[in-house]
Amino acid sequence: MKKLLHIIGSPRKEASESEKIAAAFIEQYKKSNKDAQIDVLNLWTEKMPLFDGNKAAAKMTFFGTGTLEGDIKSAWDEVVSVTNRFTSADEYLITVPMWNGGISWTLKNYIDTITQPGLTFGFGAEGYFPLLKNKKACVIYTSGVYSPALPKPFGLDFQAAYMDWWLEFIGVAEIHAIKLLSNVLTKDIAKDRHDANKQAIEIAKSHFA
Ligand SMILES: Cc1cc2nc3c(=O)[nH]c(=O)nc-3n(C[C@H](O)[C@H](O)[C@H](O)COP(=O)(O)O)c2cc1C
Repeated sequence: MKKLLHIIGSPRKEASESEKIAAAFIEQYKKSNKDAQIDVLNLWTEKMPLFDGNKAAAKMTFFGTGTLEGDIKSAWDEVVSVTNRFTSADEYLITVPMWNGGISWTLKNYIDTITQPGLTFGFGAEGYFPLLKNKKACVIYTSGVYSPALPKPFGLDFQAAYMDWWLEFIGVAEIHAIKLLSNVLTKDIAKDRHDANKQAIEIAKSHFA
């Protein structure tokens, strides 16, 4: 049975534009995958560990600094548990609101927690290499003001560029992006929402069935 991990990146509940699009995706996904398991990870309501000094120290032991014992070992065990939930999924649906040009701190905290040597990436003389295989993601991006069509004072995109880099870094090679950008400035938001929902349904049907 395949498993979809739905990572909720917005704290805005019913007001969230990205989660409305995610709902359209999920509705179609359920129709196309009657037996699939959907695991919902809300980064704002679930108790997520903070990627702190002990967790950074645990990571650095794999690069030859310090030893994995005591509090550092406990921190690593926590990291492994959070990461196992992520790696046990076959497919990902991630909602990514633009916050100050990039991604929210909760999503970054999650990424810092699960981007770990031996779990999601490896390294050797040749450098880093991804450890995940045969995974795919649908990533939903929203922004209030930023759009690539607007000049720089309206913002820059460190959101999708970062997510693309990170997903490829760990080996999620197939990425489908949906963007509802500039949704505060857009005059015909109803049409843009409709188009984004349509795209979500299409992606679920064609690539996640
Ligand atoms: C803390 C915060 C920072 C934001 N920063 C930006 C930004 O840099 N650029 C932008 O275009 N919109 C920004 N926005 C607007 C959100 O990207 C927009 O409301 C989007 O719809 C959020 O996704 P959501 O509706 O799924 O929560 C910001 C919103 C918040 C709450």
